[in-house]
Amino acid sequence: MKKLFQTLVIIGICLSLDSCYYDSIYEPITDDNDGSAIEEVTYNNDIAPIFGFCSNCHDGGQNPDLREGNAYSSLVPTYVTAFDAEVSPLYLKLIDGHQNLPAIRLELVKTWIDQGAKE
Ligand code: HEC
Repeated sequence: MKKLFQTLVIIGICLSLDSCYYDSIYEPITDDNDGSAIEEVTYNNDIAPIFGFCSNCHDGGQNPDLREGNAYSSLVPTYVTAFDAEVSPLYLKLIDGHQNLPAIRLELVKTWIDQGAKE
């Protein structure tokens, strides 16, 4: 019983810190111990699938044009500064709450940009 209580307290602390969960998921794919990428994130493989719905609105009338085939060249370099998510208008817009993307997707976009925003 005491153990159960301790476990619940630990889970509670973890949830309240909110970072534990996402950190532990993302650690393996972004960095190994020397900080180098172990898995490359690319637009076509990783970002396009989560940006599919964006073209409902960004269909050529609203910048950036995120229709399939146009999206990458609309975003890079105008909205994406390769290797620097923190200054990239795309990332800043999304972390500001545009479309309420879950943290795990924001982290993926950040990783993509910080790795050089490969197509
Ligand atoms: C429901 C419609 C809608 C959807 C879906 C949508 N957007 Fe937008 N987006 C807009 C509108 C309207 C604006 C312009 C107003 C503003 O800046 O919020 C905008 C602005 C932006 C901007 C800033 C453009 C600029 O020149 O300042 C970016 C970047 C952006 N959206 C990216 C995205 C991405 C990436 C997605 C998908 C994850 C997405 N949007 C999904 C409606 C949408």
